[in-house]
Amino acid sequence: MSESYHDICSLEELEVGATRAAIVAGWPVLLSRTSQGVHALINRCTHADASLDGGRVRMGAITCPLHGAKFQLATGACVGGAYPPLLTFSVRMNDDRVQVAVPDSPPGPEHRPVEI
Ligand code: FES
Repeated sequence: MSESYHDICSLEELEVGATRAAIVAGWPVLLSRTSQGVHALINRCTHADASLDGGRVRMGAITCPLHGAKFQLATGACVGGAYPPLLTFSVRMNDDRVQVAVPDSPPGPEHRPVEI
């Protein structure tokens, strides 16, 4: 699947410990900046599809605001709960601009949590 980089914001606009939600070519993206760098994840909790922005960020992980699952920002791994990992996107810097690569095709039903 081909993907393309999209310009999101300047590094200055993303403080360490902060997150920023964006829709990028149809993909819900959660951008975050930690002491380890800038990370991009799908902004859909793998439990029940809630948006993760607004969730508490602590020690490199974000807590889903709806039911409290916790995901590592750097890897998308679920570290608090037993849910699948979040999809991650590549991030690159272009001068001071943060750019995120998302697939050229918009997300499909396979990118939503499985109904139980
Ligand atoms: S929707 Fe995120 S923990 Fe339930």
